[in-house]
Amino acid sequence: MTEKVVVRIERSHPHRWEEFHVERRPNANVISVLMQIQRNPLTADGQRTSPPSWDAACLEEVCGSCTMNVNGRVRQACSALIDHLEQPITLSPMKKFPLVRDLAVDRQKMFDALKRVRAWIPIDGTYDLGPGPRQAPEDQEINYVLSTCMTCGCCLEVCPQVGESAAFIGAAAISQTRLFNNHPTGRMNASERLRALMPEGGVADCGKAANCVQACPKNIPLTSSIAEMARQTTRQALRDWFFHDESKGSVITVA
Ligand code: SF4
Ligand code: SF4
Ligand code: FES
Repeated sequence: MTEKVVVRIERSHPHRWEEFHVERRPNANVISVLMQIQRNPLTADGQRTSPPSWDAACLEEVCGSCTMNVNGRVRQACSALIDHLEQPITLSPMKKFPLVRDLAVDRQKMFDALKRVRAWIPIDGTYDLGPGPRQAPEDQEINYVLSTCMTCGCCLEVCPQVGESAAFIGAAAISQTRLFNNHPTGRMNASERLRALMPEGGVADCGKAANCVQACPKNIPLTSSIAEMARQTTRQALRDWFFHDESKGSVITVA
């Protein structure tokens, strides 16, 4: 008898749970099982249903688009191997993002957050700019880890400060601010990025629960990024206060 994989999927339009039994294949991951279901969308009790929807692109845990809750834990479906999962395998969409359909969500707010903190390095023109500035090995070491963020959303999904009515920007964008402020060229726009983290919804809204750092599949040191950005925004606020309020007259030196 062929061994089966039992999968329960949270479906939308209308909301329901559906169970599927599919043939177990060697080295299968959650995406390949979803593809088996897509080819023959028959529930465990023999009802024909619509093929489930999900997002995926790279299939190697780099793009972040396949992120969903697998057995109650937020992770990438492409790197979730069936042999390592308890059955029945439950699949549900991330809850902190607007639902598109079934397991697909809209992560636009993460990209908007990156725009808000200007998570890029402006370059002047498209001509050959030559080699970039040199970076100290210790900067390279931390910047490399920070640069592996794939905007997957795991850190927002587990964060108690992120919600429909909450303005909190989330750990990923805060950490990307650290990355670009720590780059020799990016540093020139550090003040603008820090000012974007100061108003409501910025770094001060973090409740320091540290769920994010545990959920990040890339092991990005999110809590140290948050602490570093809190320090930098405080220094920036002092600089802004000093340079914009000439009536104070006294000299304040800010490191
Ligand atoms: S430390 Fe806690 S509150 Fe702050 S971003 Fe991480 S999960 Fe959210
Ligand atoms: S910081 Fe980690 S958990 Fe958050 S979006 Fe980036 S890769 Fe995903
Ligand atoms: S498909 Fe890109 S991370 Fe899974």
